[in-house]
Order: sequence, then structure tokens, then C-alpha cells
Amino acid sequence: MELRLASRRDTTRLGVRIAAAVAPGDLVLLAGDLGAGKTFLARAVARALGVPTEIAIASPTFTLVQEYATPRGVLLHADLYRLRESDDDAKTSTEIRRLGLAERRAEGAIVLVEWGEGFARDLGGDPALEVILRIEGDGRVATLRGLKASSLA
Ligand SMILES: Nc1ncnc2c1ncn2[C@@H]1O[C@H](COP(=O)(O)OP(=O)(O)O)[C@@H](O)[C@H]1O
Ligand SMILES: [Mg+2]
Repeated sequence: MELRLASRRDTTRLGVRIAAAVAPGDLVLLAGDLGAGKTFLARAVARALGVPTEIAIASPTFTLVQEYATPRGVLLHADLYRLRESDDDAKTSTEIRRLGLAERRAEGAIVLVEWGEGFARDLGGDPALEVILRIEGDGRVATLRGLKASSLA
């Protein structure tokens, strides 16, 4: 399914709908080129899950994982870009597994991951949702896949 996101407001609205659709333990993969809007969308999901505005939502590019407490449980936001610089997929897999996100999902955390596509197994398997963002003109287009994609139409 494809959604046109003409403005940032549309991306924020998609974040609100994703927040309504996710459950404890869900994995949401956010894919797309640099600048496509993955972090922007993750921030919108986090706010909609109830992360208060006085808590800054930083990009996890350098920290790899950021953790937030929300009224709906723990939210983890990861960015695996730096772990994918290696051409060695086995090494990347190991490094991703070491982050412990699969275990955190099993404990009920909601996990949003930028640059996680192709490594879902190392993230505890089966994303509830995969959002692939691409830049089109002044806006964005989101392709939605996964078990929960149809509930976002
Ligand atoms: N629908 C949209 N139309 C135009 N710009 C958008 C839209 N959604 C998000 N953006 C902008 O795209 C930029 C993407 O940055 P970011 O989320 O950091 O990208 P990424 O994490 O994919 O590298 C943000 O500055 C945001 O303002
Ligand atoms: Mg980002």
C-alpha cells in the first residue's frame, strides 16, 4: 500500500496512526534513503505514544538506541546505519543481536528501527510493519508492508 505524504503534517499523521496500531513487542522497520523522513516519523510515533514534549527525541545515529518511557510501555528507537558500514553481513548480524532488541521486544518494548531491513531475524523476527519512505518532489511517499499495514489504510 502506498500513501502520499505531501507535507510534514501528513508524516506526523501517519505517525499518529502507527502509534494507534502498534502493540507491546512490535517491531516497526523504517526504511528509505538519508533524509527520507525516518527519524521525523519515529519522533511523531514517539510523541503520539505519549513521550512528553520536554523530553527531546534525538536521532539515534550515534547512540544506536534511544529509550523512552511512555504510558504504553517502553519505546526503543534504533538506527543501525553505523553497523551496516561493514560488508560482512555475519558481523553486522552479530552486532545487531548484541543490542538486545529481540529480548527487549520479548519483554514488551515497542521497537522502531531505522536501517534494519534485511536484519529482522536479528531483531526478534517478523516486523508488525515496514514503512519505506521515498522523496518525491517536495513531499514523500510511504510504502507500507507487514501484518499491520492494512490497519493503516
Ligand atoms: N511529507 C514530508 N514532506 C516534506 N518533508 C518532509 C516530510 N516528512 C518529513 N519531512 C522532512 O524530511 C526530513 C527528513 O529528515 P530525517 O527524518 O532526519 O530523515 P532520515 O531519518 O530518513 O535520514 C525532515 O527534516 C523533515 O522535516
Ligand atoms: Mg534518521
